[in-house]
Amino acid sequence: MSVQIILGAQWGDEGKGKIVDLLSQNINIVARYQGGANAGHTIVLDDKQYILHLIPSGIFHPNVICVIGNGVVIDPIALLDEIKQLQNLGINISNRLLISHNAHLIMPYHKLIDNLREKEADKIGTTGRGIGPAYIDKATRTGIKIVDLLDRKIFEMKLIKNIEVYNKLFDQIYGVEKLDVEKIVSEYEDFDKIIDEYVTDTALYLNNAIKDGKNILAEGAQGALLDIDHGTYPFVTSSNPTSGGACTGLGIPPTSIKSILGVAKAYCTRVGNGPFPTELTGELGNKLRTVGSEFGATTGRPRRCGWFDAFAMKYSAMINGIEKLAITKLDVLSAFDEIFICTAYEYNGKRLKTFPTDVLSLESVKPIYERFDGWKTELENMTSFTDLPDNAIKYLSAIEKFTGVGINIISVGPKRNQTIILDN
Ligand code: GDP
Ligand code: IMO
Ligand code: MG
Repeated sequence: MSVQIILGAQWGDEGKGKIVDLLSQNINIVARYQGGANAGHTIVLDDKQYILHLIPSGIFHPNVICVIGNGVVIDPIALLDEIKQLQNLGINISNRLLISHNAHLIMPYHKLIDNLREKEADKIGTTGRGIGPAYIDKATRTGIKIVDLLDRKIFEMKLIKNIEVYNKLFDQIYGVEKLDVEKIVSEYEDFDKIIDEYVTDTALYLNNAIKDGKNILAEGAQGALLDIDHGTYPFVTSSNPTSGGACTGLGIPPTSIKSILGVAKAYCTRVGNGPFPTELTGELGNKLRTVGSEFGATTGRPRRCGWFDAFAMKYSAMINGIEKLAITKLDVLSAFDEIFICTAYEYNGKRLKTFPTDVLSLESVKPIYERFDGWKTELENMTSFTDLPDNAIKYLSAIEKFTGVGINIISVGPKRNQTIILDN
């Protein structure tokens, strides 16, 4: 076996952390391919909750090697914090964490400018983690990479050049205090000393692992509808969470990809701004948020909630090549008497053929729903498909029918054992 991609098929927070952790049991390597500490991947073990932002969700399995790929943007503060937290839990990271020398660094000015821009009227609702600005610098070829930390002179030279530009912006446009180069240099030197043992050519490592027949999971962050190319631009993140991102973000060839699993909630959520056709803004939305504990794992913001959008999922499946779905949080829907699935969009009175990614159209589409009777039964302790109430099975079958994708994992609670895995 070679690489299996596990990615968010909606707007993020689908439960990727739980599913990657669960599927890491017989895996050699878990590799994160994009995003940064904007991600919050939750894993619940023995009733304790752990939230990972940068370190791959396979880290709780002692034999799994975790790779942070070149496509990830790394915030030293967030990474060191996470390493420390794991070490405090007694988890051995040495020889188990590999960081790409080609990954770009998030610098203090990225976080500052991200937060300053978010004060403007047309804000995206970012996580404020400096993600967009770091990818801007990567694209404009002024970014600073992990490998640049190796040589103090090169690092300082690049930093001084960047800070000159950013300081002008801070001073003249935003009227905030300028940043101090020396302070940043010394902070990043300290960071380099700690992470030095983990830095390597991860693309080479992964390609050798593929040749050796190792089992690899490529873990996506965010979700397909937040993809910079295929999502609801400009209300997106600045990377490619879609399956193509796994190849560029890890340096592995498309031919090494064996399968693609999409993780999707049994309903929909979205944090931040942007169109969300099936959003429930009233009582039902509040109920979904309360029952599903829908608050951001990174920022704590309340998540916007709505019905499952099969029309959007069909699109997500198409651009990602999703072969199977893991449906999470089915247990949350047990609280509802009736449940709806959006099966199509109408725009100007006509049924659309595909999900429109342009915001203006998406904001004015009318979702067409199919209604389902609820099951009003607790699912948390169910371990096999045949335990599930008939109405839950009907609901899952409808998701398969409307999205055209089969379901092979059903998650009925946050813990590892609250999962039903189907063979076919
Ligand atoms: P990720 O970013 O895709 O990893 O997802 P998050 O961790 O941000 O959000 C998913 C939330 O749902 C976390 O709090 C999980 O512990 C929780 N969760 C995952 N699967 C299930 C499930 O099947 N049922 C319930 N009730 N909670 C779940
Ligand atoms: P995980 O991996 C949900 C959203 C933000 C905002 C937009 C841009 O936990 O699923 P950014 O900080 O990336 O520039 O913000 O993307 N966003 C997420 N939403 N889950 C995430 O990660 C997200 N990471 C970013 O809320 O709308
Ligand atoms: Mg999350």
